[in-house]
Amino acid sequence: MVIKMSNKKIVCIINMKGGVGKTTLAVNISYTLAKHFNKRVLLIDMDPQMNSTQYCLSDNNVEDILNHPRKSIYGVFEPELPSVVKAESTEKPIETQAFSVIENLDIIPSHLNIMRANIGESPLKLKNYINENKLYEKYDILIIDAPPTISGYIKAALLSSTYYLVPMKIDFLSLFGLPMLQTYINDLSREYESHIIFTGIILTQKHPTHTRIYSSLKSRIEQNPDWQRNLFQNEMLYRAAIANSLSPESGTKFIYELGGDIQDQLVNIAAELIQKIRL
Ligand SMILES: Nc1ncnc2c1ncn2[C@@H]1O[C@H](COP(=O)(O)OP(=O)(O)O)[C@@H](O)[C@H]1O
Ligand SMILES: [Mg+2]
Repeated sequence: MVIKMSNKKIVCIINMKGGVGKTTLAVNISYTLAKHFNKRVLLIDMDPQMNSTQYCLSDNNVEDILNHPRKSIYGVFEPELPSVVKAESTEKPIETQAFSVIENLDIIPSHLNIMRANIGESPLKLKNYINENKLYEKYDILIIDAPPTISGYIKAALLSSTYYLVPMKIDFLSLFGLPMLQTYINDLSREYESHIIFTGIILTQKHPTHTRIYSSLKSRIEQNPDWQRNLFQNEMLYRAAIANSLSPESGTKFIYELGGDIQDQLVNIAAELIQKIRL
């Protein structure tokens, strides 16, 4: 079977575990691609916890979005307001907006309300929205921050994507969910006749004291040819500064701006992604 590679660069960052660095990578790879590599990037926050949204936008913007859910990705799924009077058309234009983060980087925010949206019935709405607005032409790459739980919105995120990327925290249980995730994605691809290509695993939160866990995890990854082939050479180091950068006192939230080896590492990860998906 010949798999036709899509030209669209739409990468879903996914793992069914929480706290593995999905949001940190989604935001900071996006930022680095925009700032260092001059790529036009759209980050789409599909997690109702809104972490990427809060990471990237000011408190004022977040408040505005909380008060106007239809400006967020929620607007794609629930474009019309419930109307008691059915006389007039309930079709309303989609109000979803891309907010500017820095030059070349925009974000479509999430909203808590997407948990209430009836996405299960329309898992292709996000894909259709991306296609109708030709977002893959306006931007060089779309990166989707997906939530950890199997849900309508994870389905919508995957069906919109042409690639998926799995951040994996270095611990003993990290590999446990990967076969299940890949089976889920492959079944979904078959059912909807879409191709969602495995772009790889990025090991995250690597700590100098984790030598035994690290080598155990790596050797288990290497036993599976598909995982081995797709493992990123560059890993994300553990740095307290990364977690601390999110505190209100911190001068910057973005890892690229921290400089030093952690900046180099991020640039290397972004460069590896560029090469893998031929961006
Ligand atoms: N490389 C890292 N070094 C130190 N802390 C990290 C690193 N990556 C993520 N974290 C912290 O770990 C927590 C979970 O990361 P997050 O990206 O939100 O995970 P997820 O989106 O998978 O739930 C956050 O507090 C984040 O700041
Ligand atoms: Mg997250």
